[in-house]
Amino acid sequence: MKKNIFIAFEGIDGSGKSTQVKLLTDNLKKVGHKVYVTFEPTDSPIGSVIRNIFNHRIEADHRTIAGLFVADRLDHLLNKTNGIFKKLEEGYTVITDRYNFSSYAYQGAHVPLDWVIEANSLSADLLRPDINIFIDISPDISMERLHNGRSSMELYETIENLRNVKNKYMEAIEKLKFKENIFITDGNRSPDLIAADIWKEISVIGVSTNAH
Ligand code: ADP
Ligand code: TYD
Repeated sequence: MKKNIFIAFEGIDGSGKSTQVKLLTDNLKKVGHKVYVTFEPTDSPIGSVIRNIFNHRIEADHRTIAGLFVADRLDHLLNKTNGIFKKLEEGYTVITDRYNFSSYAYQGAHVPLDWVIEANSLSADLLRPDINIFIDISPDISMERLHNGRSSMELYETIENLRNVKNKYMEAIEKLKFKENIFITDGNRSPDLIAADIWKEISVIGVSTNAH
């Protein structure tokens, strides 16, 4: 029986997370894993409030947003119907598009990073990903990709903010490198090369990557 694991994808907006989540899911399924893909902000009522803030339908302070992400993440883990713990118990390998590091990077760009780390310690201590995959791309490339793909930009999608967020990711990664398993992959390459890099790393953490 293959061990089911918990994988988090991280990176600035447009870094290629959704693309790589899909490629990794396909690869894992090919070798027999049951895969459950999920994301934050979630589609729960708490996640909807967050999305309404990002769409400028509701106004909220950055500290309030940070608190909402703490609550959304706890529900993401603990929800009895479709929470991450439930899915892991059911034998799924769970891939989440964003987890704790997104709060460190995005909220840490506006409120003190140590506070954000502390505020998220309950979920971090409950469940750390077997691997955090950080797709590292330059904010300029990210901005180009986002402009090509969309007509309107969300709250955090300005070049200055993407630069700040990237810096906060690096700061948080440095701070937590002994507590968390973090794999950094160069996202300024073709999707296939990045996917191959990730697949190699997944085998390093002990997941069977051979079909049989
Ligand atoms: P995210 O989920 O991190 O926002 P996406 O996977 O949606 O990123 O990618 C953002 C855009 O960039 C999409 O239009 C996607 O097709 C494109 N893209 C993704 N990965 C790459 C890559 N490695 N090289 C070039 N373009 C990419
Ligand atoms: P998402 O819908 O995943 O956007 P994208 O596909 O562009 O990555 O996430 C929406 C926004 O939520 C994104 O700009 C990052 C932000 N976010 C935070 O600010 N803090 C968090 O803890 C999380 C999980 C996301």
